[in-house]
Amino acid sequence: MAEVTSKMVPIPSKGVDYRGKLVLAPMVRTGEMPLRLLALHYGADLVWGPETVDYSLIGTTRVVNPTTKTVDFIRNPSYAHRHTPVNARESIIYRLHPELEGRKHIFQIGTANPERAVTAARIIAADVAGIDVNAGCPKPFSTHDGMGAALLKTPDKLVSILEALVKEIVPEFQIGISVKIRILETAAETEALVRRLVATGITALTVHCRTTPMRPREKAIRGQLKMVADICREAGVACLMNGDVEDRDSAKKLVEEFGVDGAMIATAAEKNPSCFRSQADGGLAPWQEVVSKYMEYTMDSENKYGNTKYVLSRLVPGKKPAYQLLQTCKSYSAVCDTLGLDDFTERAKAADIAVGITKDPNPQAKLQPTATTTTATATASTTMTTTASIEKRKSDDTQEVTSSAKRQRVVEEQTAQGITEIEPVQPAVALSA
Ligand SMILES: Cc1cc2nc3c(=O)[nH]c(=O)nc-3n(C[C@H](O)[C@H](O)[C@H](O)COP(=O)(O)O)c2cc1C
Repeated sequence: MAEVTSKMVPIPSKGVDYRGKLVLAPMVRTGEMPLRLLALHYGADLVWGPETVDYSLIGTTRVVNPTTKTVDFIRNPSYAHRHTPVNARESIIYRLHPELEGRKHIFQIGTANPERAVTAARIIAADVAGIDVNAGCPKPFSTHDGMGAALLKTPDKLVSILEALVKEIVPEFQIGISVKIRILETAAETEALVRRLVATGITALTVHCRTTPMRPREKAIRGQLKMVADICREAGVACLMNGDVEDRDSAKKLVEEFGVDGAMIATAAEKNPSCFRSQADGGLAPWQEVVSKYMEYTMDSENKYGNTKYVLSRLVPGKKPAYQLLQTCKSYSAVCDTLGLDDFTERAKAADIAVGITKDPNPQAKLQPTATTTTATATASTTMTTTASIEKRKSDDTQEVTSSAKRQRVVEEQTAQGITEIEPVQPAVALSA
């Protein structure tokens, strides 16, 4: 291995240094905004959003929702050649919380094309602290379009995507570009790939210590990790490890053992996001406490009920009686009732109305004047292509904008000027925190 130097790819002024960070992994479905906020609440240093395919972001409109205090990227339903019905609902393709996530939020893009990646990244870059390219998802909906782990087999394409993002997005938005990969079958193959990736100008690389064919339950392989960490350090790129990292205290030991810069947690955080809290700060919180906090975030953000129920099925241990009871719940009110969250009764009723589960008994009372409405649609230089995989993703990931939110929201221009200012992140909270 070549001699290690202290070189460092410069961190753009609105980006973040990934060194010393314990972060929430990108997770489709689970990693929507409420879980990200919960992870931050329990001490995650950075949070990745779920992979969002470039096609689905292109053509969205950026909307500030004053009710939920979120920024939503929404899409009008497509009615092909027919007229769009007046009561048609828009889909939320991506939602973020500028105040609570701020510059701790990394957007992960699914892409197989440099121009499309840049077009999509431009839409959201001013609202996030970094753009990460998914080069590790092994699912057919990703790989059959050449995205995710398929990019590991087309390194020229992956390099051109990263180079395009570095060239176009970094100077314009002053945020960093990163990539998430899996290890390849042999150390030599991984080494050759990583050497190319770290030369693209990226600021960080996450290595999931499993090969593409490996099942999530198979034990992560650590054999190549030190080599990847050394190549990254040599190039001045931060290296995050991923795969079977359980909590903050064990992450700290792994980081020291393998010489990486930080660590990323998925499955353990999906079960209990308080894994980001060290033993010294209280360690793992009881599931009841975690679920109660999660419900607050979901109700306050008017999260789509189907997504909330899905995440609850991860947070509530399967052997608990509450798990079975939750399967029968069909509303926020029923969930709060089942879990004995009596203090949330009114909030749950409001959330049920907001997400359209129950009818608003007094709709006029909630009408508020709409704040400034300016322009609408985000620019897209590429044609929208609708593939079956994207439609499937959308149905999994999207949330419908509620009618009350529609009345109140502010449609903003997709320009840097119109974008909410975000507070810079505090200096790195070391893994030992
Ligand atoms: C529910 C779920 C959804 C996931 N979605 C994504 C994703 O959108 N993008 C991605 O790069 N990896 C995704 N992954 C993979 C994780 O980010 C992570 O690499 C993997 O689970 C290994 O980490 P772990 O051992 O801590 O679970 C997902 C994993 C899970 C469990």
